[in-house]
Amino acid sequence: MSLPFPVLTPEEAAALIQNNQTIGFSGFTPAGAAKAIPKALAVRAEAEHAMGRPFKVGVLTGASTGPSLDGALAEAEAISFRTPYQSNPVLRSQINKGQVRFVDMHLSLLPQVARYGFLGPIHWAVVEACDVTAGGGIVLSTSVGASNTYLRLADKILIEINRKHPPTLLGMHDIFEPADPPARQEIPIYGVSDRIGAAMCVVDPKKIAGIVYTDLEDEAGGFEPPNPATEKIGQNVANFFVAEMRAGRIPPQFLPLQSGVGNVANAVLAALGDNPEVPNFEMYTEVLQDSVIPLLESGRCSFASTCALTLSPEAMNRVTSNLDFFRNRILMRPQEISNHPEVVRRLGILSLNTAIEIDLGGNVNSTHVMGRQMMNGIGGSGDFTRNAYMSVFSCPSTAKGGKISAIVPVVSHMDHSEHSVQIVVTEQGVADLRGKDPHERAQLIINNCAHPDFRQQLRQYISLTKEGHEPMSLSLGYSFHRHFLRNGDMRNINWDEWR
Ligand code: COA
Repeated sequence: MSLPFPVLTPEEAAALIQNNQTIGFSGFTPAGAAKAIPKALAVRAEAEHAMGRPFKVGVLTGASTGPSLDGALAEAEAISFRTPYQSNPVLRSQINKGQVRFVDMHLSLLPQVARYGFLGPIHWAVVEACDVTAGGGIVLSTSVGASNTYLRLADKILIEINRKHPPTLLGMHDIFEPADPPARQEIPIYGVSDRIGAAMCVVDPKKIAGIVYTDLEDEAGGFEPPNPATEKIGQNVANFFVAEMRAGRIPPQFLPLQSGVGNVANAVLAALGDNPEVPNFEMYTEVLQDSVIPLLESGRCSFASTCALTLSPEAMNRVTSNLDFFRNRILMRPQEISNHPEVVRRLGILSLNTAIEIDLGGNVNSTHVMGRQMMNGIGGSGDFTRNAYMSVFSCPSTAKGGKISAIVPVVSHMDHSEHSVQIVVTEQGVADLRGKDPHERAQLIINNCAHPDFRQQLRQYISLTKEGHEPMSLSLGYSFHRHFLRNGDMRNINWDEWR
């Protein structure tokens, strides 16, 4: 049956969007991101710029996206404002040069912040779907992100119907949007697989300005294969959880896992799946990466609640060719629910996230290199860390060929404070900070997690701090960073230079 909406080319759809408007795009990682319309919008922006006319838009998404959205729009210099997360190199560089205003936000908060009006009006929702009904039912594709909220709030809607994803994805989404205060009630998820919402988003069909048909793969990038350091980190995390189970601090049936993004997170998950002493587990997380698909097939992971299927085309094919199996084992939820503090706390999530650097007090920097340069953003790491049953941060003990220590006296930017960070893991070992005072933490982190090249230097730092509850020196706290910026290496500090 043909749909009662104009069928547009991507160019015709992009022509409807005006300079300075704000767009809520689908996409939580490249999974389910709109692709054809943002690409055409980038071409339009370039044409406008060539004629001497300004053309930039505000870009809201679920999280990062792929080359056709963040990449194309950034290359066309068409982004004025961006939130809540990104990972594109061109956009990152524009953010760090001050050319794009970027607000780094907890992902669970974004939908309510948009609803409360804190981000101004949303003119367009541009979302990818696998099916649309004449009555305004929209079956999203490989992620939910904040699309349900953008669809409801936006003045007008453009839909990319991506034929690469079968309409039979219907049933894998669980769309639920809480009421706003003072009418907010509990989120009634008591188990990872509880379904609480609808299978599709429903909008006023009069808002749909057009549909664009596409046939495009998601643009999920691959991961580097695990290296000896990431493999060792994975084993350290798995062994730690097994020991916690034996000690009775994790129940024998285990607890749901959240696993972050990136190479380290992927290696940790693989190690957990391989460890025979880790029982079969559930995941309550925001991103499912390739490594989870074989775990679901083998039963090692019995159910996965997520916000996005961030899968390579091959892994996605495995899902779509066996949809009846996976529909009973995967639910995709809005980021407001997949990352909701209430649910994370209730379910008792074991959270696994990655740090850029960690300081001797247990504070974590996940976002900024040398305090100034934005990498990606905080993403969902704060949503999970602050509310987890057990919060783990891992990273290799050094970066950039050993010149940078990931363990520093004081982090150059703080995303997760000592009050939320419980376990620190590097390839060197595990520092269990629970119930430890600041001086005990510092010793544990130096002895168990710092690279041997930096242990002595970190101990010297402690000996140079004055008495106090925290081993803190206001003058030497950033000595490692300052020494690196001057010499290209954090090693061989001359303390007299920095006092
Ligand atoms: N100083 C300078 N650079 C550092 C560094 C440090 N202390 N630590 C890491 N880096 C660099 C690496 O060298 C690498 O650079 P490259 O891309 O030029 O090779 C880059 O940061 C990524 O590091 P890598 O070791 O490959 O880790 P990763 O792919 O696991 O990414 C984060 C690590 C922290 C950047 C990534 O996990 C992230 O963005 N996290 C925040 C969001 C989040 O946690 N979301 C999940 C919630 S569910």
